[in-house]
Amino acid sequence: MDWTHYRSEMPITRRWAFFDHAAVAPITARAQKAINEWTADMAENGDVMEHRWVQRIEEVRRLAGRLLDADPVDIAFIKNTREGVGIVAEGFPWKPGDNVVTAAEEYPANIYPWMNLASRGVEFRTVPSRDRRIWIDDIGSAIDSRTRLVSLSFVEFASGFRNDLDAVGALCRERGIYFFVDAIQGLGAFPLSVRQTPVDFLAADGHKWLLGTEGAGILYVRRDLVDMLHAVGVGWNSVIGARSFGTIDFRLKPNAGRWESGSLNVGGIAALGASVEMLLEIGIPTIAERVTELTDYLCERAAEIGLEVYSSRRPEDKSGIVSMLVPHADPIQLVRRFKKEGVVINQRAGRLRVSPHFYNTQTEIDRLIDLLQHT
Ligand SMILES: Cc1ncc(COP(=O)(O)O)c(C=O)c1O
Repeated sequence: MDWTHYRSEMPITRRWAFFDHAAVAPITARAQKAINEWTADMAENGDVMEHRWVQRIEEVRRLAGRLLDADPVDIAFIKNTREGVGIVAEGFPWKPGDNVVTAAEEYPANIYPWMNLASRGVEFRTVPSRDRRIWIDDIGSAIDSRTRLVSLSFVEFASGFRNDLDAVGALCRERGIYFFVDAIQGLGAFPLSVRQTPVDFLAADGHKWLLGTEGAGILYVRRDLVDMLHAVGVGWNSVIGARSFGTIDFRLKPNAGRWESGSLNVGGIAALGASVEMLLEIGIPTIAERVTELTDYLCERAAEIGLEVYSSRRPEDKSGIVSMLVPHADPIQLVRRFKKEGVVINQRAGRLRVSPHFYNTQTEIDRLIDLLQHT
């Protein structure tokens, strides 16, 4: 793989050694070009060329379908991950006394929308991590006859623990429970096929490993579950004849498209499409290998200078996020100090969080290690 070529498509590399894809990632040069084309067209032509963008959105939907190994019609564009969680949380046919299970270390986007169901009599249950891992047996123990849904991240935002979606999905299917995946910390870096992994609902914004902008993400809803959910947020674009503005015909689209509701973030979707196109061109399994190689190297170098890696690095648990303990330093200060040196990392849960993507290099990691060694 010609990584130098793809690296040259990441303008961020001119100025920064950027290891913060788990926060808000830089966009690709292709995404930048797509946005520029869209803004130029809007400034110069207004909506005269609208058909071009309507067409592009459908192309991006097909790309998202390839990314998830899903039928493109089962994908809706949403403005962020939370919106996807909310669509399922608020539309699900709960009965008082039902419960929803998630991990205690989940990001708040996958916590509050479920907690917010308390007024509808839905109990919110969390599974604590043990020995820095989330155990499938613990998820199994949290489930009972009133559990209707399990919601979990592909990769945990602070620890970097990669959940075994196949195993959790299989457990859910066995017990007749629905499975929601917050995929934002894994999608683009690790393969995920909704045909192979038993996922019922999935959401991810594009601003992390997909190298898109904030405000343009994707929602997948299994086709046969569309009618089970009450369609929250219905608007002009939710119905079959969405563009026949003069005709009122309230028949909802028979797929995830009903949650697209209104006008879309066209520029953001175009940017997302440009980046996803590049990721698919490289190949997600190839990216996963590269991210694993880089994070393995980072962990080896960290061990050499006596730093303890918090993240589980068992092969099946690894992700693009490496969480490190810095007991004798303030992680917030380190993050600030390193930024002045052109090295971008982050901190979460009192630990350093380093999240490289495919275009980073071992030389950049060496720079980071050098800074860490002299803290
Ligand atoms: C696991 C996880 N989910 C969701 C988000 C972001 O949520 P949203 O796309 O709603 O802003 C983050 C961002 O840090 C995250 O780590």
